[in-house]
Amino acid sequence: MDCYNDFAYVYDKLVDDVDYNEFLSFFEKIFEMNNLTPELILELGCGTGNFTEKLVGKGYDVIALDSSEQMLGIAQEKLENVLFLNQDMTDFELYGTVDAIVCVLDGINYITNKRKLLKLFKLCHNYLNYGGMLIFDINSEYKLKNIIGNNTFVGDNDDVFYVWENQLLKDRVNFYLTFFAKDKEGYNRFDEVHTERIYSQSELLSLLKKANFEDIKVYADFDVKKPNKKSQRLFVCAKKNAK
Ligand SMILES: C[S@@+](CC[C@H](N)C(=O)[O-])C[C@H]1O[C@@H](n2cnc3c(N)ncnc32)[C@H](O)[C@@H]1O
Repeated sequence: MDCYNDFAYVYDKLVDDVDYNEFLSFFEKIFEMNNLTPELILELGCGTGNFTEKLVGKGYDVIALDSSEQMLGIAQEKLENVLFLNQDMTDFELYGTVDAIVCVLDGINYITNKRKLLKLFKLCHNYLNYGGMLIFDINSEYKLKNIIGNNTFVGDNDDVFYVWENQLLKDRVNFYLTFFAKDKEGYNRFDEVHTERIYSQSELLSLLKKANFEDIKVYADFDVKKPNKKSQRLFVCAKKNAK
């Protein structure tokens, strides 16, 4: 993967406007609605551990997994008592089962191959306890096509200046990112290319059903309501049967 290398060292500065508490409250609401009281949670694509930290703060036991060594390194500096695994979420192995699996901030869009996403869903189903849930959010088709699309964004945040150029293709968007990060000697330039796959709701539902998930619900924008045409962040919740 040619992303989340040097980017890891500036990542937290660029997500300082993300309200991870909002994610936590919403996920806990979903748990409650489904009478689920998870003890052990697996977090996929945990990155620098910002959401992991919230889960740990609420008393959950957490296994957190990411394919970027650099992102995990930063997470490990923040948190003790978390089992961090440097693994690919489309091909992971655990010692046992968990009560819930979560993935936040569009990690699932990074799985650009549909067959691999099916494998990921099958693995999640396999490692969930009966009655357990998978919950993740994605950037919607609308957002990737119309908001991110072929647009270019420029950002200036504390010690980091970045240019984010996008290329919209049929089923994916390439992000060409250039960073200038301040260090002791001046500004250090680095570049990364990220790709997010556009998934329609029906594609996701069909893959989740193939992986034997039940009771699949899609909500939008931190609310227990159906998405509309312009919803930007979709939340997908799927259950493993209760035995
Ligand atoms: C947008 S970041 C989100 C990070 C974190 N969840 C957060 O909320 O800040 C996406 C994360 O997914 C990870 N990722 C992407 N593809 C992955 C894969 N195949 N397996 C494991 N992690 C992956 C990246 O390394 C990155 O840390």
